[in-house]
Amino acid sequence: MKFDTPATTNPIDRMTVVGRPTPRIDGKYKTTGTAPYAYERHDVNADPAYGYMLGAAIAKGTIRSIDTSEAEAAPGVRAIVTYKNSGPIAVGRFNTAKLLGGPEIEHYHQAVAIVVADTFEQARAAARLIRVDYARAEGQYDLAQAKASATMPKGNADVQHGDFATAYAAAPVTLDETYTTPDQSHAMMEPMASTAVWDGDELILYTSNQMIDWGRGDVAKTLGIPKEKVRLVSPYIGGGFGGKLFVRAEAILAALGSRAAKRPVKIALARPEIFNNTTHRPATIQRIRIGATKDGKITATAHEAWSGNLPGGDPEGATSQSKLFYAGANRSIAERLATLDLPEGNAMRAPGEAAGLMALEIAMDEMAEKLGMDPVEFRAINDTQVDPMKPERPFSQRHFVECLRTGAAKFGWSRRNARPGAVRDGQWLTGLGMAGAFRNNIVLDSGARVRLDRAGRAIVETDMTDIGTGSYTIIAQTAAEMLGLPLDQVDVRLGDSAFPVSAGSGGQFGANCSTAGVYAACVKLREAIAAKAGLDPAAAEFADGHVAVGNRKVPLAGLADAGDLIGEDTIEFGDLDKRYQQSTFGAHFVEVGVNAFTGEARIRRMLAVCDAGRILNPVSARSQVIGAMTMGAGAALTEELVVDKRFGFFANHDLAQYEVMVHADIPHQEVIFLDGADPISSPMKAKGVGELGICGIAAAVANAIYNATGVRVRDYPITLDKYLDRLPVA
Ligand code: MOS
Repeated sequence: MKFDTPATTNPIDRMTVVGRPTPRIDGKYKTTGTAPYAYERHDVNADPAYGYMLGAAIAKGTIRSIDTSEAEAAPGVRAIVTYKNSGPIAVGRFNTAKLLGGPEIEHYHQAVAIVVADTFEQARAAARLIRVDYARAEGQYDLAQAKASATMPKGNADVQHGDFATAYAAAPVTLDETYTTPDQSHAMMEPMASTAVWDGDELILYTSNQMIDWGRGDVAKTLGIPKEKVRLVSPYIGGGFGGKLFVRAEAILAALGSRAAKRPVKIALARPEIFNNTTHRPATIQRIRIGATKDGKITATAHEAWSGNLPGGDPEGATSQSKLFYAGANRSIAERLATLDLPEGNAMRAPGEAAGLMALEIAMDEMAEKLGMDPVEFRAINDTQVDPMKPERPFSQRHFVECLRTGAAKFGWSRRNARPGAVRDGQWLTGLGMAGAFRNNIVLDSGARVRLDRAGRAIVETDMTDIGTGSYTIIAQTAAEMLGLPLDQVDVRLGDSAFPVSAGSGGQFGANCSTAGVYAACVKLREAIAAKAGLDPAAAEFADGHVAVGNRKVPLAGLADAGDLIGEDTIEFGDLDKRYQQSTFGAHFVEVGVNAFTGEARIRRMLAVCDAGRILNPVSARSQVIGAMTMGAGAALTEELVVDKRFGFFANHDLAQYEVMVHADIPHQEVIFLDGADPISSPMKAKGVGELGICGIAAAVANAIYNATGVRVRDYPITLDKYLDRLPVA
C-alpha cells in the first residue's frame, strides 16, 4: 500500500480497540519466566556449549602474538576462535569497528577471541589462559583536546540561513554559552546475548536485536555468507535503547564458535564487558548563541556541536532540533566530528535531540531570565507552525504551545518563584523547572502478513520487534480493529526474519510504522475475506467476528475451512514527510529539592505533556514516556561514562559505578497526552512517543536545580561537586 496522500476516515478511527488502555499481552509470559530470551532458548536447544568473549586489553595498537595453546588444553574446551582461524571478518554496514578484532585493535574490549566450552565456568577460566602480546599505539581519547582537529562530518553540511552574525550583533539581548554532555551507556536490563545454531550452511541466530532485517544483512556481510542463509529470531528483548539496533560482537562470536565447535553455542556479554565492547552515546560540547528583541522574539540562533567517534563513525547529531524547534530568521548550525579511539559511538534513545536539548533547553531558560520573561512564555512566543527555514513547509501538526499551557496549568507553574534560591522547605532549597520537548517522527516502510484461520482467529506475522515497548499489544489492537475481532482472537508473532520485513524498533518509528504495515496487510485480508464470503469488498464491514454488507452477515469462523485466508502487504511511505515536517512535541515540568547543607538533589515530581498524534495504547505509551523521563533524569543527575584519558576506555563499566536511576529517585511522574490524530503520519494517524519523553527532560531538571539554588551548571551530569560550594548560605 502506497501512503502518499493524507489519511481519510478508515476503520481505525472507530477506536473500539485501538486507543483503549490495554495491558501488554506479552506481560504474562515475561512475568512468569516463560518468554524465551536469546540466552534461554532451552526450547530449541537443550544442550548448548557456552561461549566466553575475550576483550582487548588495549585501546589501540596491534596483537603481536596470541597463544591459545594452554587455553585449548583446559578442561571442557571445545574450540577457540581468533582472527587467526576465523576466516575473513568484514565490517558490517552498520558497524565501524570489526566485531572480531585482530591483529589490529581499534578499541578497548574489542573482541579478540571466543572460547567455547562445555560449561560457562570452563569457558571463562580458559579465556584467562589466552596469552596476548600487544603493541600499544598512541590514541586520542579526549574530546576537549580533539575538538581542535574536528572536521565537518560527511553528509552533514553547515546550515546558514539569513545572516546570523549581523542579527546577533544587533540583538539587544544575547546569550553565548557552552554546555557539555558526557558519554552515556544504554544500560538495558538484558545484556547482548545470542544462541547460534548451524544447520549445514544455514545459520540460525536466536539473538536480541531491534532491527531484524538490518541484522540479518550484517551477519551475512560480516561472515561472508548469503543473506538467505541467515535467520535471525528475536521475539523477546529486554531493552535496547539503540544499543541493539545493530548486530554486535556476541552474535558473530556465537556463530563462529558454533561453527568451530560443531555445536550450538550461546553467549551473553557479562555486564562489565558491555560498556566498552558495545556502543554508547558520544559526549558532546555544544556552543549556543541566541539573540532576541527586548520583547523576547528570537532573531538569531547559532548552535555548534562537537563530538567524537572512531574513523568512519557518525557524530552525535546534537543540533538537529535547533533547525526546527523555534522561530527566528537567522540561523547558523554546524557539527564537527573528531576522531577518538574510544569504543564506537552510536545511537542511543533519541540520538541527537536528547543530547541537543540538554543544552538548548538550558540556553532557553537562561535567555528567558535575561529577558525577564517566564520561560513558558518565552517558548510560546517563539513557536512556529512552519519549518523556520522553509516557510512553505508546514508542520503536519504542532501543538507545542498547548503542551506548554496544559503543563503549566496542571503542574502549578504559577507558584514558581522566579528569583532563584528563594524558596526553602526546611533544609531543602526547592525549585521548579521546565523545558520543551521535540523529536522528529520518522517513517520507514513496513510489512506484515495476517492470516485468518478456520477458527476465525487472526495470526499476524512480521519481523517487527518488541523491545519492551508494547509492539505485541498495539499490533494485536490494530488487527483486532481492522478485522472486527476481540483482542484475544489475535495472535502476534514477531522478531523472526522468516516473516515480512518491517520498520523494526528504532528512532521512535516502530509503533506508527509497524502498525501501519499491519493495517495494509489487514486491508488485503479484508478483501480476501469479503471475496470468500461472496460480499462486495468495498462495502464490507467487520465487527463482532463477522463480515457484513447490509443485513447479510457472515461469521469469520469457518470461512477459512479450506485453508488460511492470507493478506500480506507493505506500507510504503511516499513524500508526505518531505512536504510536511513531521515531529512530536512536549513540555516537561520538574520540581526538585536540593539539600542546603549537603547539596543532595532529589526530584520531587515530574510531568510531561505530549503531542504525538493518535495514542495507540495509553498504557504502553505512558510506560514509554515515564521510562524515558527516568532515563532523562539519570542523564541530568548521575549518568556519565568516565573516560580514562591515558589508556582510552570507560573506567566505570558496571552498574555499581555507572549509576542509573532507581525507583527511590523518582517519586512521582505524570504524563498527559493531548488528543490528536495526525492524518499525515500514516493510516494509523499515530506518531512515536518513546523517544520524545527523553527529549528536554534533563534540561528541565537542570533548570529546576537552578531555580532552587541560583547555581547554573552547564556540564552534565549535575553532580553536587559542581555546585556545593556555591549554594546560598543558610
Ligand atoms: Mo533508538 S536510539 O533508534 O533504538
